Amino acid sequence: MSINIKTPEEIAGLRIAGRLAGELLDYLTPFVKPGVTTAELDELAYDYTVNVQKCIPACLHYQPEGMTPYPATTCISVNHVVCHGIPSEKKLKKGDIVNIDVTSIKDGFHGDTSRMFVVGKPTIAGARMVDLAFQTMWAGIEAVRPGNCFNDIGIACQAFADKNGVSVVRDYGGHGIGRGFHEEPFVAHHPSHRPTPVFEPGMVFTIEPMVNAGRYHTTVLGDGWTVVTKDRSLSAQWEHMILVTETGYDILTCSKGTQEPPAWVKGWKKPSFD
Ligand code: MF3
Ligand code: CO
Ligand code: CO
Repeated sequence: MSINIKTPEEIAGLRIAGRLAGELLDYLTPFVKPGVTTAELDELAYDYTVNVQKCIPACLHYQPEGMTPYPATTCISVNHVVCHGIPSEKKLKKGDIVNIDVTSIKDGFHGDTSRMFVVGKPTIAGARMVDLAFQTMWAGIEAVRPGNCFNDIGIACQAFADKNGVSVVRDYGGHGIGRGFHEEPFVAHHPSHRPTPVFEPGMVFTIEPMVNAGRYHTTVLGDGWTVVTKDRSLSAQWEHMILVTETGYDILTCSKGTQEPPAWVKGWKKPSFD
């Protein structure tokens, strides 16, 4: 039971893997259109990961204890699907809100990131969930600095969600990441009643809150993977990999297509990729 502190070499490896995962999402972006099936998007992701980026798709055949092996490269979670949506022959349609979550392994290091996409013209409710989930992630990121603790992420995410009348999923969370896909600790996006570890420079973990329009409860479908909101309300999620630095944080999953932070984020600038 311990959170490992990454060496500068490990951080460099994670930054490369993280950027590749971001670039995979950049590559997929123009294909997210009405009429495309999520299986088609998954096949594009597999080919790009393996043949262009020379990475290993970490999700494909990933099998946590007690689970069946995950059958795809990506998780594609549409509308009321919270996470772990399995790509299928179902076509995307105008107004769908879609999370694509990718994890790639490069030289033994994992890069894990996800973004939301809106298919065609957004609905008011869909656009609002996408934006509120993005800002909830950023509320969590902004809580990261040495001396604060993991619970500060949960407090910040929950406070932002409460203020905006949405809920934060409790059954799934972020995680440490490195040579392992899911390392310690579990990163809750809601407040914890138990003490949580204090941030130390060199820790690397994900922040990936799932935000629901209705209640926070979830159900797993019969396929053993697909997580949906129990009340079938819309759900949205964004994910970055975060490094704790001496003074705050850095983001390891940036690429050219990374969305700029909300205007209220003052201390972080997106790197340039030109
Ligand atoms: N990428 C997901 C995460 O953010 C994990 C997906 S596991 C899978 O942690 F098996 F469903 F792919
Ligand atoms: Co993750
Ligand atoms: Co992920």
